[in-house]
Amino acid sequence: MVDTKVNLLGITLDNPIIPASGTFGFGYEFSELYDINCLGTFSFKGTTLEPRFGNPTPRIAECSSGLINSVGLQNPGVDKVIGEELPKLAKVFNKKVMANVSGFSVEEYRETCRRLNDCEQIGWFEVNVSCPNVHGGGLSFGTSEKAVSEVTKAVKEVTTKPIILKLSPNVTDIVSIAKACEDAGADGVSLINTLLGMRIDLKTRKPVVANRMGGFSGDAIFPVAVRMVHQVSKAVKIPVIGMGGVSSAEDVIEIMLAGATAVGVGAANLVNPYACRDIINDLPRVMEKYNIKSLSEIIGGCK
Ligand code: FUM
Repeated sequence: MVDTKVNLLGITLDNPIIPASGTFGFGYEFSELYDINCLGTFSFKGTTLEPRFGNPTPRIAECSSGLINSVGLQNPGVDKVIGEELPKLAKVFNKKVMANVSGFSVEEYRETCRRLNDCEQIGWFEVNVSCPNVHGGGLSFGTSEKAVSEVTKAVKEVTTKPIILKLSPNVTDIVSIAKACEDAGADGVSLINTLLGMRIDLKTRKPVVANRMGGFSGDAIFPVAVRMVHQVSKAVKIPVIGMGGVSSAEDVIEIMLAGATAVGVGAANLVNPYACRDIINDLPRVMEKYNIKSLSEIIGGCK
């Protein structure tokens, strides 16, 4: 009998699997396919203070071993999330959920988190400073040590729950960004968000995605994620949620060996909506194969 439990900032997860924000909506659609209570938790769609329609279409470009998205943080806004999405989720999910929050100013991050803080269903905040698809928000914070520090401090002032800063790989030195988050009081970091990418249609000679560029995710970025999780987890004392191209139980074990305490699964949900359930079901078999009795014991175990 193997033990898949991990502890994420004071809350025990039955397993480390966390569907990544933007690939699992607000959860209840997936609950029509399977019982989502098998998950460790999940991170809901990036939420902003005001509703957002998102970017013009087309927003998706398929690539070998991945896809580019430029959704543009489409979401109903924080008040509807509190008033409508979370009550619907409560009917199908009895665990704590992770609130993914985005913003265009430090004040927006602060106010959105302040409003969500009293929601009993929320166990952690994932503060997204890494969305590549909106101008003047997200990523522009995540590329500067000063800006991530300001966002972290502002959110910390208004929240009583752990805050996890979601980091971008589109930087020269992700370690210094992660350390700036830790120094400013972040409880954890999650990485990696998508890599900025672009495709061009040969017939029209125009970019495939209307916003020209978008975030590249999927199997192809897994080695980049493993490398960055390894580097960051060696440099900080706070837990790291590892993600980026994870699509199998073997990938989960590998990124945990690199230093992840819990594991986000993103693009795989778009290819196979049962991906997270399948990975969870397969974990005991793969743990036995590699003689792993407890997942929490392998965190950072890369020699
Ligand atoms: O465009 C989007 O909604 C994606 C957000 C993200 O990658 O953080």
